[in-house]
Amino acid sequence: MRTVHVSAASKEYDVLIGIDAVRSLGAEAKKLCPKALKALVVSETNVAPLYLDTVNDQLEGAGFEVTDYVFGAGEQNKNITEIAGMWNKMAEAGFTRTDIVIGLGGGVTTDMAGFAASTFLRGISVIQIPTSLLAMVDASVGGKTGIDIPMGKNQVGAFWQPTLVLEDISFLRTLPDDVFTEGMGEVTKHAFIMDLDLFDKLEKANGSIRVDEELLEEIVYMNVSDKASVVGEDENDNGRRQTLNFGHTVGHVIERDSGFTKPHGICVAKGMGIIMDACVRAGTLSAEDAEKMKDLLRLYKLPVSDEITPEVIVEGAMNDKKKRGDTLSVILVNKIGSAEIKKMTKEEFLEFLSV
Ligand SMILES: NC(=O)c1ccc[n+]([C@@H]2O[C@H](COP(=O)([O-])OP(=O)(O)OC[C@H]3O[C@@H](n4cnc5c(N)ncnc54)[C@H](O)[C@@H]3O)[C@@H](O)[C@H]2O)c1
Ligand SMILES: [Zn+2]
Repeated sequence: MRTVHVSAASKEYDVLIGIDAVRSLGAEAKKLCPKALKALVVSETNVAPLYLDTVNDQLEGAGFEVTDYVFGAGEQNKNITEIAGMWNKMAEAGFTRTDIVIGLGGGVTTDMAGFAASTFLRGISVIQIPTSLLAMVDASVGGKTGIDIPMGKNQVGAFWQPTLVLEDISFLRTLPDDVFTEGMGEVTKHAFIMDLDLFDKLEKANGSIRVDEELLEEIVYMNVSDKASVVGEDENDNGRRQTLNFGHTVGHVIERDSGFTKPHGICVAKGMGIIMDACVRAGTLSAEDAEKMKDLLRLYKLPVSDEITPEVIVEGAMNDKKKRGDTLSVILVNKIGSAEIKKMTKEEFLEFLSV
């Protein structure tokens, strides 16, 4: 088992990563939350049939009284109705401030379990058990929690760091191939913005990291370490954490433009490719590095471009919730493993994408 320690300003916690890591859930939960008597396990209809019993057995074995809340899988259920369902379930079961929530699922589940925990009785502990690659390397680490509203994704939420994140690599065995590929969008992003070693490892693995679980564990560990280091420096997303948005400003527009039919990780990969091309034209990135990064995306079956026009990107980006005032923070990669935040006006961004 590998451990990444996250030192966020508001809270310190560990991310435990390993094949069969779930076997330490009971003991860890008891150790970290000694006063907790009850646990609410939040999961969804794809993941619960696979792993809920294992998780419940662990918690019951450690003496917890376990209640579960299983919602319909999918982003369309990442809403306030389901959160209210979780609050009610905890209230009915007599949860107190020392009891805990467990999130078991992909990023939709960990975002919602975290948000329910952050709001119930003004905040109780949450232990995250991410089951998708994306949730392991990104969503479950760093404390961003939330839900969607009709006007936009992730528009309501809270920063609420977990007490523990337990990443069982064996859970990835059942993840559908296309969902795994999507997670690779964020994995390659970490390599591009900050981790040359990860880039080399992914390149050497030649597109196949699923078959070798020890390699997969190491890759997940490298990604979690990257995310932890960024969150440790800038928990509230006012500085360096914004570099994690590489590819996202453009990617979000493509995603929204498709009516959310194109998956997030795929849109991010397209966004990264589009920004790389613009950086090469602007002379801030070598054509050679851009080609190497695009080759890595292709190696992991990710796209590197899209038909979308610069005008549509800019219009969409100006409506993004991440925008602050009249300028956009655009993330650029100057060479493999190194990113920069550049403030651009609408006109500057259009010129950057068009020239
Ligand atoms: N909080 C953050 O910092 C952060 C960061 C990135 C993304 N997110 C959020 O994460 C969500 C996307 O995460 P996601 O891609 O994991 O989505 P998801 O939770 O919908 O999971 C994707 C699909 O995989 C299935 N699945 C998950 N684990 C499985 C397993 N082990 N076996 C079989 N099937 C499994 C799910 O049922 C679902 O169909 C979005 O809502 C996004 O906003 C949050
Ligand atoms: Zn993302």
